[in-house]
Amino acid sequence: MKFTLFSFLFIFCHLTYAQTYEQQLPPENPSIIYRPSEIPDRIILSISDPGSKSKTVTWRTKRTSVPGKLEISILTSEAEFYKKNKEYTAISQDHLTFSGDSVTYHKVELNDLLPGQVYAYRVGNEKYWSEWIDLKHADQTDQAPWQLLYMGDAQNDLHSTWSRVIRAAAMAAPEAELILHAGDLINHSLNDYEWAEWFEAGGHLFAQTPQLATPGNHEYVKNSQGIKTEISPLWNLQFNYPKNGLAELPDQNFWFDYKNVRFLFLDSNTDIENQAKWLEEVLASNTQTWTIAVFHHPVLSGAEDRQNDGVLRHWKPILDRYQVDLVLQGHDHMYGRGQNANSGLGLWNENSGTTYVVAVSGRKMYELGDQSWMQVKAQDTPTYQILTIHRSHMNYQSFTWDGQINDSFRLEKETGKANKLIELR
Ligand SMILES: [Fe+2]
Repeated sequence: MKFTLFSFLFIFCHLTYAQTYEQQLPPENPSIIYRPSEIPDRIILSISDPGSKSKTVTWRTKRTSVPGKLEISILTSEAEFYKKNKEYTAISQDHLTFSGDSVTYHKVELNDLLPGQVYAYRVGNEKYWSEWIDLKHADQTDQAPWQLLYMGDAQNDLHSTWSRVIRAAAMAAPEAELILHAGDLINHSLNDYEWAEWFEAGGHLFAQTPQLATPGNHEYVKNSQGIKTEISPLWNLQFNYPKNGLAELPDQNFWFDYKNVRFLFLDSNTDIENQAKWLEEVLASNTQTWTIAVFHHPVLSGAEDRQNDGVLRHWKPILDRYQVDLVLQGHDHMYGRGQNANSGLGLWNENSGTTYVVAVSGRKMYELGDQSWMQVKAQDTPTYQILTIHRSHMNYQSFTWDGQINDSFRLEKETGKANKLIELR
């Protein structure tokens, strides 16, 4: 093989890039406080029970041998409601961050919450406590319409610009009961400063509304060749989801039911064929009215030259066969929505009615492709999505980050048939 100057430069640049890829240290002049202290930070609420009967709270302190505590009270109008509280002791796990800080992650599962009850809780120990944080524990048998938020890749400039997107979403849907994140929450999986920015942007919202996230490619650690080797150790420390997926993908592959919806979370970075078997089993036993799948890599790309054949070949036929209502995805840094997901590939089940969406909430953008599966598409458009779930229909609205309607439709359940999609734009 002829070794040219070009090939030398290519290999040199590639190695330099790969070696520095994960070594992104905090900026010289950080915009936020990110180092751990005795005061709890990065408080996040998740659902770790498939029936959504319990909730799990996770937080961080600097490394400590003092056990973390969680106090919870029923919220009343009394000024000192918090005095009648119940205390839990956390399960704690130490961790060394990439930038060298020793931290402890604390976790409490609240498994005796009463349906329909509003609580307030705080976390900490001894002298150091968080503020009291509201926690509504919905009655899972409640048949009233309810809302959730869906966010595509946040990933970049989390403090400077994404913070206002997540705030705008929360203000537009203050009663949203869940927030779904379709992967690439941050840009570098080990960079503790980026995670600090993600948590700072979400603030109290992350502590009072369950956050359900699927890993993107940027949540994976890469080796010196730039190949994904393992999920960031911070993933499992921060997120606690039902342990009902593949055992080797904890908190990455799981399902849970919330009211009238079955949610399926898959890790599209790895183990595609084994997750396909899991997907089929979970869908075969599903009796919920609605089914929503969330994963990072789209079954059909919305940008140029980014097709993921594994997901397309192994997951799409199953999603269609079981008439999954919505598939919420990220990765392509554009907006696309469609049901025409055949696109000449011979994989379309015309009776499925499955609606596929790709969205991005952060500022990084890719060029929009002209793939025919997209009935609605937008380039250079960060968005957030509000879904309102009714018993026999679902309203979907996508907003630009300045609050304008980007997309809007209704799905109606038709007994024995595919969903009817009504355009509302
Ligand atoms: Fe991304």
